[in-house]
Amino acid sequence: VKTKYLKRLIHHPASEIHVKSVRSSTTVPLLMIPGPTNLHPRVLETLALPQVAHTGPQFYSEFLDILGLTKYVFKTSQNVVVFSGSGTSGMEATIASLFEKGDRVLSVENGFFGRRMSTIARIYGVDVETLVFPEGEAATPQALEEKLTGRKYAAVLLTHVETSTGVINPVQELVSVARKNDALAVVDSVCGLGGCELLFDEWGIDVAFAASQKAIAAPPGAVMIALSERATDKIKERKTMIPSYYYNLSKWLEVMKDPRLYLTTPSTAVLRALRVALQLVKEEGLENRWRRHLELSNAFRNGLITAGVEIFSKAPSPTVTALRVSDSASVGKKMLSEHNIMVSRGLDSHKQDLTRVGHMGIVSQKMLLDTLSALLVVLKDLGEPVNEGASLEPLLRLSQ
Ligand SMILES: Cc1ncc(COP(=O)(O)O)c(C=O)c1O
Repeated sequence: VKTKYLKRLIHHPASEIHVKSVRSSTTVPLLMIPGPTNLHPRVLETLALPQVAHTGPQFYSEFLDILGLTKYVFKTSQNVVVFSGSGTSGMEATIASLFEKGDRVLSVENGFFGRRMSTIARIYGVDVETLVFPEGEAATPQALEEKLTGRKYAAVLLTHVETSTGVINPVQELVSVARKNDALAVVDSVCGLGGCELLFDEWGIDVAFAASQKAIAAPPGAVMIALSERATDKIKERKTMIPSYYYNLSKWLEVMKDPRLYLTTPSTAVLRALRVALQLVKEEGLENRWRRHLELSNAFRNGLITAGVEIFSKAPSPTVTALRVSDSASVGKKMLSEHNIMVSRGLDSHKQDLTRVGHMGIVSQKMLLDTLSALLVVLKDLGEPVNEGASLEPLLRLSQ
């Protein structure tokens, strides 16, 4: 099945990247997990460069580039902070720095990562109320509006893409409801930034954080945070000390004003790779990148749907797809051992019944054709009800 489709493939730059960087060694599997992603050769080359001094002029100038490019991907002219850490450190730094014990926030949850944000807020003594939507469904602005009416919250905590279920939440509308009700809007865009539309300034977001290893397609290890003037003021005006040394945005904001200031030793190699990954985003154009993610993911899901595979999310994300299976562990094992492609299992209660496919960063038509054809073969082998004649046409059409 595979060769027939692959023969019809027209090579384009992205698929060549994939061929060169991923398939040059048969031992390296294609990463179709929801981060970390496959890396562009230019990013990989950067990782092999000799070490530079974190306080030296070269890293300083490169770090200034990173800050400028981070503003570009968030579409903001307000403050941005970049430091070494994973997505969770963005979450923790935001919570620790913005809120004081007893501040009341509303955490909008529809999956694993929304719940994580509530947990972290509770650890810091924040008074967390939740607005919970069923997993697989998007949060609705109407329900948020109802919840906020007549009750004051310091902030609403939102997840852009709930990676555990492949749901994209309508962040623009949710932020607008939060702001109308005088609450700060905090957005976890770890699985969104660079792959899904996000306009930090225009949508009126107050804090958004993201990580290097998802749609930006850099290695894991760097966190990017954008802060509105309101959020920066809230940090400045707090009455109690930020109860953290590392996750202290007040200190990081000072470092961003002059990155030569020493606070902690940054992971220079990861940050230099991030700079190149961000340059690639800019070279492609952010809007083009959003469009590529949207078109590829829709075409990929169309192939699954025509084969009769159930997509779990009712609001599917351009960056990750969760599909219903009977035994995700076997799907993952067969995908890796027979096709050299890595996919993920579900999380928490969906460990067994969801397989998650990440399609972000430098994802190409070829990667998705490989993944789709392999998935269909594996699902059929495992006795899943897969129809003959799945339509790969929408994916094939994309490069023409
Ligand atoms: C939406 C979301 N938030 C937070 C995180 C946590 O990021 P990290 O694993 O980099 O700490 C993830 C990771 O997958 C995520 O997808």
